[in-house]
Amino acid sequence: MTSQNIYILGIESSCDDTAASVILNGKILSNVIASQKIHEAYGGVVPELASRAHQQNIVPVVDQALKQAGITKDQLSAIAFTKGPGLMGSLLVGTSFAKSLAFGLDIPLIDVNHMQAHILAHFIEEDGFKKPPFPFLAMTISGGHTQIVKVKHYFDMEVIGETIDDAVGEAFDKSGKILGLGYPAGPQIDKLAQLGNPKAFPFTKPRVDGLNFSFSGFKTAVLYFIQKQVKLNPNFIAENLNDICASIQYTIIGILTDKLKKAVKLTDIKHIAIGGGVSANSGIRQALIDAETKHGWTTYVPKFEFTTDNAAMIAIVGYLKFLDGDFAEQNVMANSRLKI
Ligand code: KG4
Ligand code: ZN
Repeated sequence: MTSQNIYILGIESSCDDTAASVILNGKILSNVIASQKIHEAYGGVVPELASRAHQQNIVPVVDQALKQAGITKDQLSAIAFTKGPGLMGSLLVGTSFAKSLAFGLDIPLIDVNHMQAHILAHFIEEDGFKKPPFPFLAMTISGGHTQIVKVKHYFDMEVIGETIDDAVGEAFDKSGKILGLGYPAGPQIDKLAQLGNPKAFPFTKPRVDGLNFSFSGFKTAVLYFIQKQVKLNPNFIAENLNDICASIQYTIIGILTDKLKKAVKLTDIKHIAIGGGVSANSGIRQALIDAETKHGWTTYVPKFEFTTDNAAMIAIVGYLKFLDGDFAEQNVMANSRLKI
């Protein structure tokens, strides 16, 4: 019966990826992303360029998502979009587009919190991936976010730790920049680290109270260390690149796992779900696997395409909210600082 088929279009435009996805009853039919290459030349995302690129990409990306799903826009049950947090100009493109399309089709509009979506991506129906049971701890680690969240139910979440400055992805990217690696440096550091000695250069971990993180001091420590060594040996970076990368990665993973251990102790919750682009890191994945046997945790890592910024995670939240009848009004506004 077609009335039981709930098709949701999800739209994500919070940062530098324009993405659209169609979900049918919790299963992803299409997941299209136009990544903006233009920022590579600047070593980071340039907000004004991002919003212009979103404007160029949004129609073809949505069109492609509908085509790949094999449906027309008239079959959609609702439109879900990222309300925030993110870059205001970027959010406005997705928000305005979603509002207009929902209005034109006379179907419900659903606003989605990007940070909740990273977590709820674990509930996409996907063969071979298990869903975490409530309550669980979610750690979202990316170029824009570093958070530990206690998830009591789909929309009952509490942030119990977050970064007070840079995100963990920035720690990778900024360290990489110091080493002369291109942007984003995270994947390159990961690759080089696998050939190096993680204990070659001990970097001190920042001391931050409770479950919060700080990465800006770490980046400065890397900078001073490299400057000092290069003064002594101009070829220091080239001669030690693998060891430097391994040491940086080892320290960052240590910072993350220390806080996770603390969070488990405080909450007595041993189901740990991670998300965000940095969860692709091989060292972090290995540390989580090790923690299963070492600490008795059960860990959850979603399919890669659902960990980085994507619209499938917006679509799954749209589906869950649709089931709850939780819709937004036409006057809904983007909110660049939206909280969980
Ligand atoms: O989730 P994402 O694609 O975009 C947002 O920032 O929202 O995450 C991108 C971040 C970048 O900082 C990138 O360097 C980092 O994730 N990253 C990695 C790896 N793959 C991506 N960091 C470490 N190791 C990786 N394998
Ligand atoms: Zn994100």
